[in-house]
This record gives sequence, structure tokens and C-alpha cells, in this order.
Amino acid sequence: MTVHVIYGSDSGRTKAAAGKIAAKLDGKVINIKDATVADFEGCDFLVLGSPTYDEGNLQADWADGVDVLAEADLTGKKVALFGLGDQATYPDNFVDALGTLYDAVVERGAEVVGFTDTKGYEFESSTAARDGQFVGLVLDQDNQAGKSEKRIAAWTSQIL
Ligand SMILES: Cc1cc2nc3c(=O)[nH]c(=O)nc-3n(C[C@H](O)[C@H](O)[C@H](O)COP(=O)(O)O)c2cc1C
Repeated sequence: MTVHVIYGSDSGRTKAAAGKIAAKLDGKVINIKDATVADFEGCDFLVLGSPTYDEGNLQADWADGVDVLAEADLTGKKVALFGLGDQATYPDNFVDALGTLYDAVVERGAEVVGFTDTKGYEFESSTAARDGQFVGLVLDQDNQAGKSEKRIAAWTSQIL
């Protein structure tokens, strides 16, 4: 099974998480800056990750990346998503980019797997929370770095 882990990252945390996730899934890590339509389509399982910036936005490279994603046909493809954010400083827009990625891949026909519990996080509002669950893995390296290894391990076993 081929796995592509496509991420964007400003300060390296999402890049590091992508590496750990790819190691668990035996996947190839691709920076969204370099990603092509073939990188989205040419795998059995797709994992996408972005931190949230500037009150709810995708990481800057993903701004162009969503245009590439918009050209990809993900009909029936299994996709898992992860997002990084800071619940203490940005409780009103916590990991909103994860919600944006979710809407983008669902629009392309993907079947999203790997929802997680919102328990254990303290925030006011997040577009990544739907019906009481996050639409993917949520990591907060700013406030809960000590929990990330376990969260990654649990999530990757869940989606496998
Ligand atoms: C200017 C700025 C704006 C941010 N805005 C948000 C936000 O709206 N929501 C959120 O959950 N996190 C926000 N964050 C936190 C980052 O998403 C978090 O630090 C993340 O781990 C950074 O990932 P990276 O190292 O891969 O770039 C912001 C951080 C900065 C510096």
C-alpha cells in the first residue's frame, strides 16, 4: 500500500509530525510546496496536514496547495487529516485549517477516516470539530507537546 503524507509548515512542527506519521505508516513525506496532482492521486492512502495561522487560515504554502488539490480526483480515496494549533492563544480558531482541509477533500470525493475525540483539549470554537469529533488528528505542540507521541501512535493504529 502506498501512502503519501503531504504537509505544509512554517516553523517545522508540522513537518516533524509528518515525519513521525509517515514512519508509522511507511509513507513518503512530501512538502505541499513541491506537491503535484499526481502526488494526491497516485497513492492508495493519502494523509494531509497543516497548522493553522492568522486566525483560522491554512499555512501559507497550502494556499497554493489547495489549487493543486482542487485539480485532483479523490473519488473513493481514503484520506486522513492532521492539524497543529495552539488552543491557549487561539481558542476561537483552534486548528481551523483542519476543517478547511476536510471540506476541500470531501468536495473532491474523498472518504475521510481517522476522526478523533475532542476530549482532552480546551478551546471555544473550531471548524475542525464536527458533531463532537475532530475530523482528524489534532496536535498542540505549544501546550501539550508531551501528549503528541501517544496521540500519533493511537491515531496511526486507528487508521491502519
Ligand atoms: C501568527 C500565528 C498565528 C497563529 N494562528 C493560529 C490559529 O488561528 N489557530 C491555531 O489553532 N493556532 C494558531 N497558531 C499556532 C500554530 O498553528 C502552531 O504554533 C503550530 O504548531 C505551528 O506549526 P508549524 O511549526 O508547522 O508552522 C498561530 C501561530 C502564529 C505564530
